[in-house]
Amino acid sequence: MARIVLTGKVPQPAVDLLRGADHDVQAWDHDHTVERDELLQRVQGADVLVTLLTERVDGELLDAAGSQLRAVCNVAVGYNNIDVPACRQRGVIATNTPGVLTEATADIAMALILMTTRRLAEGERLIRSGQPWQWGMFMMLGTSIQGARLGVVGMGPIGTALARRARAFGMTIGYTNRGPIDPALAAELDAEFLQQDELLATSDVVSLHCPYTPDTHHLIGAAELSSMRNTAFLINTARGPVVDEAALVAALEGGQLAGAGLDVFENEPQVHPGLLGRDDVVLIPHLGSATVQTRTAMATLAARNALAVLAGQDPVTPIS
Ligand code: DGY
Repeated sequence: MARIVLTGKVPQPAVDLLRGADHDVQAWDHDHTVERDELLQRVQGADVLVTLLTERVDGELLDAAGSQLRAVCNVAVGYNNIDVPACRQRGVIATNTPGVLTEATADIAMALILMTTRRLAEGERLIRSGQPWQWGMFMMLGTSIQGARLGVVGMGPIGTALARRARAFGMTIGYTNRGPIDPALAAELDAEFLQQDELLATSDVVSLHCPYTPDTHHLIGAAELSSMRNTAFLINTARGPVVDEAALVAALEGGQLAGAGLDVFENEPQVHPGLLGRDDVVLIPHLGSATVQTRTAMATLAARNALAVLAGQDPVTPIS
């Protein structure tokens, strides 16, 4: 019987799946995240860890688990919380959950585009404030996205799913990526491959869909923001540190940008104080994959990865 330690609370179907395989499953039943010291204790003796993106999986944690550890199964597609080389050095397989959160995250990116361009959060705040208001010809005018250009940074599955949505809203698509996408897909989306500087300079909305790695740290900083149109909007549903948040605040204050929609933050869960009072930004708390169905699918996929490794099989979605 193997020992599976879940470092955070996950939907019950995933716990049931793990328990059904007759392993010793140590679930975490609290809504709060586990403190580091307690986590280092809990993982001891684990054969598999099922982790959340709020836990740092580094050499210290892997060593605390012990040399019998065989896999770390992250319940997220992003795995910047995992030191993958440290896993490899110790012969520990690392897995993530691609695919199952693509549509949910693209929905949130599209929602942020609509919320920022149409000033929806600002309007909602007005109503809730109790201030008197009435319809007016010039009241709270936003920006139309029909015919506007969406610039997708990172045309993987989520960027592609957003592009499909944006096409339905009448937007045209430009993208940057490690290389051009499949020609058939590019033709379907009428998507133009651009260098990043050209994409930033010509897009009305720029949406980030790249992983967070040392190469993408502050991919969008002061220089990039100043190259964007001052009528443009920046959307981030990827990872906070892809954007230099202080530079974003400065760009907004300087009128270099029309607004931003952020689901993720550089020092999550802290948010730069310069963003909090601004009506031209929409701030939501990392909700990209936050549907019952998606979180259940993510946790279940992580559980399937765990069980595959324990059965001596290849995991379903290894981190390559
Ligand atoms: C992921 O899976 O990386 C998402 O950020 C979770 O919402």
